[in-house]
Amino acid sequence: MTQLEKKNKVAKAALEYIENNQVVGIGSGSTVNCFINMLDKVKSKIDAVVSSSELTTKLVESKNIRVIELKEAGKIPIYIDGADESNKFKQLIKGGGGALTREKIVAHSSSNFICMIDDSKYVRVLGKFPLPIEVIRMAQSSVAMEMIKLGGRPVLRENFITDNGNIILDVHDLEIDEPIGLESFLNNIPGIVTNGIFAIRGADKLLIANEKNIEVI
Ligand code: A5P
Repeated sequence: MTQLEKKNKVAKAALEYIENNQVVGIGSGSTVNCFINMLDKVKSKIDAVVSSSELTTKLVESKNIRVIELKEAGKIPIYIDGADESNKFKQLIKGGGGALTREKIVAHSSSNFICMIDDSKYVRVLGKFPLPIEVIRMAQSSVAMEMIKLGGRPVLRENFITDNGNIILDVHDLEIDEPIGLESFLNNIPGIVTNGIFAIRGADKLLIANEKNIEVI
């Protein structure tokens, strides 16, 4: 089974979690794109969507589903998104697609975060996937120095600007043994808008697609 087939399989499983008349928060990335492609099946149940990126907004609107602002939605009952890595505590690395800031905001405002991954992304220790960090451009080198002090190897994501007008540093070679501690530490470095560790608010349910079925933890 290819990774794309697994993404489609887990996206289909996530559809089951949508209940009648719900506002649904939707993340970003290729797994989410598979999920959005299938939304016709449950469209009648969805009141509106709160989106985490410009691309997601465009795709959802192309399905004739209403996209509303977070301020109109208040607390969102369900948020559905992918991830780049997850450990067994449902602590995640996200931001491979660069939408981490809005994803973290929407996840934080949601009661139930359903995360869709395939089994290649289920890891014992986070950090093999380079940690994305959204940074205010003027702080590129000062933040990069801080990452080097931590033992990381920051690499500027070339030709990429986030929906919020910032740059991304992808930090390689970090072994993230204490995700909550590192997430909090990074939150305090001036110039970092958002780091891609989702541990303070991790997922509530993790759907993992493997060759045979969907494991739910
Ligand atoms: C987008 O910024 C990311 O957080 C994605 O949710 C994450 O990178 C997973 O992406 P894929 O579904 O494309 O693997």
